[in-house]
Amino acid sequence: MSIDVTTIRKDFPVLQRQINGKPLVYLDSANTSQKPNAVIEAMAAFMRTGYAPINRSSYQLAAEADTLYEGARQLVAKFINAPKASEIIFTKNATEALNLVIMSWGRANLRRGDVVLLTHMEHHANIVPWHMLVAERGIELRWVPLTADGQLDMSDLDTLLQDTKVFSFTAMSNVLGAISPVATLCAAAHKAGAIAIIDACQSVPHQATDVQAWGADFVAFSSHKMCGPSGLGMLWGREKLLEAMPPFLGGGNMISDVRLDGFTTACLPAKFEAGTPPIAEVVGLGAAVEYLQKIGMNNVRQHEIDLSSYVLNLLNSRFGDDITIHGPTNTEHRGATFSFAFRGIHPHDLSQVLDQQNVCVRAGHHCAKPLMRIIGANATVRASFYLYSTQSDADALADALDSASDIF
Ligand SMILES: Cc1ncc(COP(=O)(O)O)c(C=O)c1O
Repeated sequence: MSIDVTTIRKDFPVLQRQINGKPLVYLDSANTSQKPNAVIEAMAAFMRTGYAPINRSSYQLAAEADTLYEGARQLVAKFINAPKASEIIFTKNATEALNLVIMSWGRANLRRGDVVLLTHMEHHANIVPWHMLVAERGIELRWVPLTADGQLDMSDLDTLLQDTKVFSFTAMSNVLGAISPVATLCAAAHKAGAIAIIDACQSVPHQATDVQAWGADFVAFSSHKMCGPSGLGMLWGREKLLEAMPPFLGGGNMISDVRLDGFTTACLPAKFEAGTPPIAEVVGLGAAVEYLQKIGMNNVRQHEIDLSSYVLNLLNSRFGDDITIHGPTNTEHRGATFSFAFRGIHPHDLSQVLDQQNVCVRAGHHCAKPLMRIIGANATVRASFYLYSTQSDADALADALDSASDIF
């Protein structure tokens, strides 16, 4: 079953906007998604009449806030099929979730010469913290290369995984749209004795997630890319691993006891949630998860597959050799995120001209500079679609590209 996009679009007030008399064409959802009324209203209602601290106070209002906050954790756990809600750690964003596991697990378990395997399609959030551990611990990084059509080249995977302690990889590239075979990669990591860390930022918002079926050890993702508010990310980890890890940030809420000579940590998940969390944002995330669940993640995925084939056909047939779309051509292997080069026009110039038609795209290196070097570009334009995107959005993109050709 596909989804009813006309009805869905009515849930997103910003999509009703016109700028300079023209409709908004929002094609930057891989960057951050728009928010449905359900999220906006859940947060507004909480801020208006339900706001209170969590975990600290015993009065009724605070107990209600606690219930909402922990209820959202349970919704997230169910959404990704985590065995226990206490394995979900709320962080500032996916970047912090990755830093948490890389720094906490990494510092406790990695020594000089230990090998960590990454891929050529990682976001900086899954590269820079590892470079920091290279400097701090003397670990070694290895990289899985890409095939010509922008998928992971698995031909040497077993060799690359030899003597590896960690395999950390993206479930879906934010530049190429390529979807990784996560369960296969996790199984290969475990066979080699490594743990598997998944950057699922671009995957959890767009298809059903089952961390147990994946066989992952840690999974990081962001609220703001899945219809929820910004300022909030999530780390799921296996209970045993999280329990054995030292805390990442110290302060209030994460302790069981503090004395003049030291401290003991709280149980999961509080151990990794130091300080006052983004309470209203977690409430909003709970509403986002319920919203996505009601639509059905398999339906979201099917919509994006259909849209991807429409976009690929449209752009390739209309522009031929004038456009180079990076990443897989098979829609089963990609999400609806398209990075491209167009008629030699600089991506930043192109995005400005597209903006004159209210077509919102991102131009730049997409926080994946190693990948950009590999595909031989300083920057690309990226158009990214989501559950509320339509074929008309794709048509508007193509028309705006035509108008850019007239200017340059
Ligand atoms: C694949 C991937 N990983 C990590 C991140 C970082 O997410 P955040 O900025 O929410 O921390 C992003 C954001 O664009 C991403 O696309």
